[in-house]
Amino acid sequence: MTSTPNPPHAARYPAGGLAFPHRDLIGIGQLERHEILFLLDEAEQWVALNRQATKHENLLSGLTVINAFFENSTRTLLSFEIAGKRLGADVVNMHAAQSSVKKGETLIDTAITLNAMRADAIVIRHGSSGATQLIADKVDCPVLNAGDGQHEHPTQALLDALALRHALRARGAAAEDFTGLTIVICGDILHSRVARSNLLCLQALGASVRLCAPPALMPVGIEAMGAEVFHDFDAALEGADVAMMLRLQTERMSGQFIPSAREYHHLYGLTKERLDRAAKDALVMHPGPMNRGVEIDSEVADMIDRSIITRQVEMGVAIRMAALDVLTRRARGVAGWGEAA
Ligand code: NCD
Repeated sequence: MTSTPNPPHAARYPAGGLAFPHRDLIGIGQLERHEILFLLDEAEQWVALNRQATKHENLLSGLTVINAFFENSTRTLLSFEIAGKRLGADVVNMHAAQSSVKKGETLIDTAITLNAMRADAIVIRHGSSGATQLIADKVDCPVLNAGDGQHEHPTQALLDALALRHALRARGAAAEDFTGLTIVICGDILHSRVARSNLLCLQALGASVRLCAPPALMPVGIEAMGAEVFHDFDAALEGADVAMMLRLQTERMSGQFIPSAREYHHLYGLTKERLDRAAKDALVMHPGPMNRGVEIDSEVADMIDRSIITRQVEMGVAIRMAALDVLTRRARGVAGWGEAA
């Protein structure tokens, strides 16, 4: 399993160039379309490995990966931890609650400390937009953004794209990219790094993106990013191929953004009846954590043929394995690191 299969998009990578020239993975905004496709293609081998009984590869043996999480997380932290361990790395988790951050240490001093421990990759989740870049500027190893404030969550967007690609292919579509697809992202767009990363990623892969939220939860001027903006969820769903639902990020809200969860569900909750407005067989996605009965009904979240929410979680491990592999190739002395196979 050490060899990289010939990726189907190899012809689209720049001839003779590096398929992935970046040291860090801070945001989808830094990536070209062919770099996104490269990471998706790289992840396919890990999807296959993860479906085997023995899910282990010694690619990162001897390397130390530090997961520095300054914000609560269940699935993202677990997913990065499993990814690092399946690739054979020594994985260490640092939770902010137990760290010196609580003792007043600055983020830069924390970064310098992590660097001094000679980590080979640092995965950061932080409540402030831009914190990951700040740390990346201070350390010598690759830094992966596991979500920084309201800015970006690149591995989430990549795993969403991979899950969508798999779901489309399972239905017999070529799914080279998402050209011709209309994808609705509905929820608390204002506070969502997932919405921002997905908007960039889905558009780079050819999809038309509709953003839907109550006016108070829609960033002003977001149209400039090329999305169609809706405040009426029924209208947004009309003929859509995918509905991606987002949670209300109450922990980021200061003040009252919506009258009540009940009213929010009435206007913006994805119910079975509402989903009927979308294209026949439209897919349902959610990055988690879900608030059943608020932004999504259980009946919809658990639809076997339409909901790909658990597939998203599965793809998360593969995408993070691909990101850890690709970003540590230079340090591992892999010939032509980041080069397309
Ligand atoms: C998202 C996040 O943390 O931004 N969750 C995740 O990573 N799966 C979305 C959210 O918290 O609502």
